[in-house]
Amino acid sequence: MEADGPLHDGHGRRISDLRVSVTDRCNFRCQYCMPAEGLPWLDRAEILSFEEIARLVALLVRLGIEDVRLTGGEPLVRREFPALVAMLAAVEGIHDLSLTTNGYLLERQADELVEAGIQRVNVSIDSLQRDRFFQLTRRDALPQVLRGLEAIGVHPGIRPVKVNAVAMRDFTEQEVEGFCTLARSTAFQVRFIEFMPLDADRAWTPEAVLNGEELRQLVEAIHPLEELPREPSATARVFRFADGRGEIGFINPVSEPFCADCNRLRLTAEGKLRTCLFSLNETDLRGPLRAGAGDGELEEIIREAVWRKELKHHVNEPGFRQPPRSMSAIGG
Ligand code: 5AD
Ligand code: SF4
Repeated sequence: MEADGPLHDGHGRRISDLRVSVTDRCNFRCQYCMPAEGLPWLDRAEILSFEEIARLVALLVRLGIEDVRLTGGEPLVRREFPALVAMLAAVEGIHDLSLTTNGYLLERQADELVEAGIQRVNVSIDSLQRDRFFQLTRRDALPQVLRGLEAIGVHPGIRPVKVNAVAMRDFTEQEVEGFCTLARSTAFQVRFIEFMPLDADRAWTPEAVLNGEELRQLVEAIHPLEELPREPSATARVFRFADGRGEIGFINPVSEPFCADCNRLRLTAEGKLRTCLFSLNETDLRGPLRAGAGDGELEEIIREAVWRKELKHHVNEPGFRQPPRSMSAIGG
């Protein structure tokens, strides 16, 4: 393990991207994430305070983290969330401070978030048809979410605004045309993400994944595409429509794992450090933090955990074990 210098893992990967979950709670119940009745939520006292999050983020930034993405659960349900954004925006050394949200509360909070210093926003939308959106998220909320998307879209400083759609077989096929229209007629960048085995209901099967290549062919059947060069450690394959009207991307963690380029680290709402979405082990930072650990002590715990970052996920291998946490409890 290296005692100083920017964070690296034991496989030679430089770790520069941090996802911070600010709550395990959510106001939606997406089929691929949560059960209809929700999950047992963490108690208030278990969740890191804004001060605790800011301290850990500042430390991680000193260790080489450059990009910080705030997630949940649904981050906008956390009380005073924009105040946390402002605290993190003041941390020196963050190149990119971004947010992933389901968009439900975005109409109300967009201006405040921009003022607080958020730089980029991803909105999760899996269907552009109201009844199907309701079926998948178990909330009849598409109009509200689209108003949220508009509300963030009017801020010219927040670019790109991305729309992420989880792709599931026998569902997303019927959304392809709508998402193409959105991508071609607005500045929003649309990305399909393959369904991963991180659902609380454990209904995931390999067959339920509508893979990126199948999706690309469905798009190609309507609109010819040209692939754009991929940036290093970018997770999406991005294509532009051959007639020049916009682009569309495919994030294929299941069919084309990008583990070899993975530069990510995750901090859960209760202060566990996770080095992979599919980690079966995690490292507690809240305990030492609340016991009064100094930065040096925390740094050592972090370097040690990062050093042991998983080489890759084993989703496509026999004997794969789904982690006990669902996506909402990890932080996308
Ligand atoms: N597979 C793929 N993506 C998922 N997300 C939540 N659960 C899953 C899953 N099982 C996505 C959300 C959101 C991001 C935080 O993670 O839709 O875009
Ligand atoms: Fe909530 Fe996101 Fe999970 Fe949907 S995917 S239930 S919006 S945390």
